[in-house]
Amino acid sequence: MRGIISIVLGLFLALPVTAFGAKMGTFKYSDFKKPNNCGMCHRDIYKQWKKTLMSKSYTHAWDQVEYFKLALPHSKKLEKVSGVKAGCIACHSPLAFLSGDIPPKPADKDTRANEGVSCEVCHNITGTSEKVPFNFSFDIEPGNVKRGPRKDAVSPFHKTAYSEFHKSAEICATCHDEQSPYGAWVKATYREWKEGPYAKEGKVCQDCHMPKAPGKSASGGKERKDIAQHIFEGSHSIAQLTGAVDVSLSGLEKTVSPGSALKFQAKLFNGKVGHSIPSGSTEERMLWLEVWATDANGKKYPIPVTPKGFKGEEYTIADSSAMTYQAIGEIMEIKGFKGLKRDGDVPDGARIFRHPFFDPKGRMTICQWYTKDNSLVDYRIKPRETKVEDYKWSVPTDLPKGKLTITANLYYSQIPSSVGKFFKLPESEYKPLLVDSAEMAIEVK
Ligand code: HEC
Ligand code: HEC
Ligand code: HEC
Ligand code: HEC
Ligand code: HEC
Repeated sequence: MRGIISIVLGLFLALPVTAFGAKMGTFKYSDFKKPNNCGMCHRDIYKQWKKTLMSKSYTHAWDQVEYFKLALPHSKKLEKVSGVKAGCIACHSPLAFLSGDIPPKPADKDTRANEGVSCEVCHNITGTSEKVPFNFSFDIEPGNVKRGPRKDAVSPFHKTAYSEFHKSAEICATCHDEQSPYGAWVKATYREWKEGPYAKEGKVCQDCHMPKAPGKSASGGKERKDIAQHIFEGSHSIAQLTGAVDVSLSGLEKTVSPGSALKFQAKLFNGKVGHSIPSGSTEERMLWLEVWATDANGKKYPIPVTPKGFKGEEYTIADSSAMTYQAIGEIMEIKGFKGLKRDGDVPDGARIFRHPFFDPKGRMTICQWYTKDNSLVDYRIKPRETKVEDYKWSVPTDLPKGKLTITANLYYSQIPSSVGKFFKLPESEYKPLLVDSAEMAIEVK
């Protein structure tokens, strides 16, 4: 009997998925409590959550711009992407979606849409409708029962229920993996993790993003040694990003003479990230390596990466003449819009670790919902992978004698600076963040 049910289920799951767990307009805002209610007892957790992007998933400047200036107008123009009007909100403001408040009012109107991914969203989730979750496929049941990781939790305010799902990576996958209307995987953090070494070792998302610390999770609660911290630090946290990838230089001779060729390698080891870096919103994330020599007089010489010759490599080497993101101009109806600089202000010749997405017209895009294909090239660093980059520099004949320093700096940015400046976002949204750096000194003879 069980076997038959699984086969039937298997067939059902193999079909194209249209029915998701979370359904629009099935509840009311008033079915869910406000986060500050929970914060009365769960003070530390509330304070932690308030600082995270999860609490700003609707109000955060770039999210407002992308939804109201691009996705929402696009959903009205192009039938194929009409679903994103509600779809974006299902993950970024689940209560608005579940309450049928679509489109929600902009953040400055201060409605309950602003609560974002709140306590009530995660702790009323009961499971998922999918075998391998994605696209807001969480099942949710608002009410007095709060689901969590403890079998012995007792609260005077609400009922509690033990939930295995809350200890699994699959709860995160319901929102962290996403397929575009064209069927391209435009977010795949869970799938990247699943294929990598951490899943095999049983290390889940919560182990890195909700580290445990001693204390009480609530006033009146039990003293415990392993309370789940709700800090959800990702690439917006400089602490989480610093040292996430190790950079080292190798193959350098101790001395070099003017007019010769200097050859060496830069090695990048992803030792801390449980999935590829960058991950998540990969349409706009860039990790890049700048390499240069500094002579005895302090003069700097940028050294471009040596191409390897793989398919799509041109998208992974910074080129200040490359223009793209034309879809922005089409959606916003800007006459004569030629696009924006593909790589922002990344200096020419720097290697970029990224996963470019392409729209139906074959242009690289930051509109993840308008992504038809992203199979050309994925040059990111997988968990525990080492990437080796080759450098070759023709040493100038007039290089002064003395010390020559080779430096390699690895930077990360959330959004190409060209896009950030175009939308007048705060500079903090796109400025380069230093991940790691390596330096070696040799002598010019
Ligand atoms: C009057 C105080 C109080 C309020 C208000 C309160 N809780 Fe609790 N909650 C507790 C206590 C006490 C515990 C038990 C803690 C323990 O056992 O360590 C608890 C436990 C929990 C757990 C853990 C359940 C488990 O099985 O592991 C979750 C999840 C939770 N609360 C969510 C919420 C949410 C969401 C809200 C807001 C809607 C909320 N709480 C409001 C006091 C409160
Ligand atoms: C993105 C989903 C998410 C959000 C948002 C969220 N939680 Fe949690 N919470 C979890 C998960 C997952 C766990 C279990 C983590 C683990 O055990 O590794 C958890 C654990 C807890 C626990 C039990 C802690 C322990 O270790 O005993 C409490 C209490 C709790 N959450 C309350 C809250 C409150 C209050 C808020 C809002 C201020 C909130 N949560 C927001 C996902 C979430
Ligand atoms: C209901 C949907 C939902 C669930 C469930 C969810 N997330 Fe998120 N998460 C989001 C959204 C939306 C954002 C992006 C906020 C933004 O930038 O607008 C986000 C942001 C994050 C970030 C911040 C990334 C950064 O760029 O700094 C981390 C880390 C994260 N989530 C981890 C988790 C983990 C771990 C879980 C599972 C325990 C989880 N999330 C469950 C929707 C969700
Ligand atoms: C071994 C630890 C580890 C595990 C396991 C892990 N992460 Fe991360 N994660 C990190 C680190 C470190 C960063 C910061 C560097 C970066 O942005 O990639 C990060 C970044 C992120 C980001 C921000 C990505 C970006 O570039 O904006 C998200 C979202 C995220 N993690 C979600 C998840 C989810 C969901 C899971 C489980 C499927 C998970 N993580 C598992 C360590 C981990
Ligand atoms: C399946 C859930 C899901 C859907 C659907 C979704 N998002 Fe997201 N979104 C996320 C998660 C999770 C992140 C965080 C990933 C990361 O940190 O890299 C995110 C990140 C973002 C960011 C980047 C924030 C930053 O800090 O750089 C923007 C902007 C954004 N989403 C807008 C949208 C828009 C507009 C739509 C609709 C076209 C949409 N999202 C649809 C889950 C979703």
